[in-house]
Amino acid sequence: MHITILSRRAGIYSTRRLAQAARLRGARVRVLDPLRVEMHLDQPPGAFYQQRRLSRTDVVIPRIAPSIQPYGLAVVNHFALLGIPTLNDAEGIAASRNKMRALQLLAASGVPVPPTVMAATAGDLKAMVELVGGLPVLIKLITPSERPGVMVCETLQSMESALEAVLSMGHNLLVQRYVRRRRERDLRALVVGDKAIAWVERRPRPGRLLHTLARGAKLKAVRVPAALDKLAVEAARVVGLDVAAVDLLEAGTGPMVFDVNSSPGLKGLEAATGRDLALPIVGRAEELARR
Ligand SMILES: Nc1ncnc2c1ncn2[C@@H]1O[C@H](COP(=O)(O)OP(=O)(O)OP(=O)(O)O)[C@@H](O)[C@H]1O
Ligand SMILES: [Mg+2]
Repeated sequence: MHITILSRRAGIYSTRRLAQAARLRGARVRVLDPLRVEMHLDQPPGAFYQQRRLSRTDVVIPRIAPSIQPYGLAVVNHFALLGIPTLNDAEGIAASRNKMRALQLLAASGVPVPPTVMAATAGDLKAMVELVGGLPVLIKLITPSERPGVMVCETLQSMESALEAVLSMGHNLLVQRYVRRRRERDLRALVVGDKAIAWVERRPRPGRLLHTLARGAKLKAVRVPAALDKLAVEAARVVGLDVAAVDLLEAGTGPMVFDVNSSPGLKGLEAATGRDLALPIVGRAEELARR
């Protein structure tokens, strides 16, 4: 078995762990920086790496950073064109990175999502806020390229200035109900194929409203009812991802999926669960390769 990991650097924790897991399973593995892959469109098409023709590989595990998404996804598509299975395809990765697209796909398939409106202008703020159930609301950039991509607005005034700032920078945004957490839980599932193989709860650092990892949320392994396993697997499936981190808020009214991620970071998940989560991902890649 020969496995190719597409990643900017071999030293990144998740990349390193995937490579280790592949070797542990007896596979040969190489890490390619997607920006150094040259795509040759000819009869037949070919792929080069720093001017040298790439030898055959059985399966590709893409870890495409948002900062290099357009070229990175072209490379993922190119491998698909060469007939090589990719663990997550370009379409799924693109859908998951576009928050409105992901929410559309989820809602259309009956996966509950937080009440959300999208608009290209600030328009009638009051009406927007009413549509999602009142203040406070969250404003999210639809395709966040840099952090932070999420803002909490407690008043119409703060919302107006946030909207103006975001729109004037040329970003599209969505306004979403801010699901307050008292007893609610902010959960992340790691989905691989048709199983949710790990669950963690995210707790924000004291004084922080949001549970973002970048801002130092604490992760804790948890067990969840089987219905949530099913929901997480369904969410990954409808967005078109074979491997995904599915984020959801478990509120009194039931769970709501708010984000689906195509290149889940393994560091926090492995530390919280004390488990090897790279092995099952590589196992899934091998399964794809054998099909
Ligand atoms: N509707 C919501 N109500 C309350 N909190 C939310 C809601 N949506 C998101 N959050 C919180 O905000 C954080 C970031 O939201 P989201 O994942 O949608 O944005 P992101 O740009 O992908 O950021 P990150 O990379 O940190 O995940 C989540 O981890 C969650 O704690
Ligand atoms: Mg997120």
